[in-house]
Amino acid sequence: MKIDRRTFLETLGGSTAIALMSDEAKADALEHHLLSQTNAVQKFPTAAEIEAQIDTKPTRKGAGNLFVAREGNVTRLAPLPQRPTLADYFKLRFVATSNHCLQSANRAMKNGMSEEIILACLLHDTVQELIKVDHGWWSAQMYEPYVSEKVAFGIRYHQALRFYEDKALGYEYPDLYRRIYGSDYRPEPYIERTYQMVRQHKWYLAPRMVTVNDLYAFESNVNPVLEQFTDIIGRHFKQPAEGLGFDNSPSAHMWRSLSMPDHPL
Ligand SMILES: [Fe+2]
Ligand SMILES: [Fe+2]
Repeated sequence: MKIDRRTFLETLGGSTAIALMSDEAKADALEHHLLSQTNAVQKFPTAAEIEAQIDTKPTRKGAGNLFVAREGNVTRLAPLPQRPTLADYFKLRFVATSNHCLQSANRAMKNGMSEEIILACLLHDTVQELIKVDHGWWSAQMYEPYVSEKVAFGIRYHQALRFYEDKALGYEYPDLYRRIYGSDYRPEPYIERTYQMVRQHKWYLAPRMVTVNDLYAFESNVNPVLEQFTDIIGRHFKQPAEGLGFDNSPSAHMWRSLSMPDHPL
């Protein structure tokens, strides 16, 4: 497919904004740009067509970003400091997901969401560096020792709620899912049951607002930085003194796996 170079670069916010982007963020932006053009001219695949792709790829779709090269070989990772903080993971490990999460948190902030919702948006998809399948549950488990119950609830259940519209609150089923799950995809029964439970829950708005502020296409001219959220992290994220991965919490092993994904066993 031919792309109009100038139009694409303009959507990124010009040369200053581009200079601040990581190579991964640029690759993501290009992918989104190409997909947005593709969507305009192609119909969505069916769920059966998506299913038929499974044994045509060397890796499974649920594998985490850190463990799979987009093309060629994986890159050598910089070691984390001895007592790594959330910011260290953002800068050195959440390479493929940070831009998306920063944009979601930025949107939540602009929409006047509470600090807990902004934090849930900031963290919601970062576990996809480790594992993508059932990422809401994995992500909530990873963050549970360090955030409030409500933040973890928002993170865990955004995964189920994203398949169900709530137009009154501004959430419509995104075309992205027609493309990646298939036009006739129906969520599994456990997702449906989870949705029904959360719909009645007193904290329904927490995961719902994560979906409302989620990004389903690369937003041009928006390149938020982590420092914008330093105060919110300071107030709502319990950074362990020993460093994430070394505090013996129930999810410390998940952080170590992100820290050292090249350990063979
Ligand atoms: Fe998500
Ligand atoms: Fe997301």
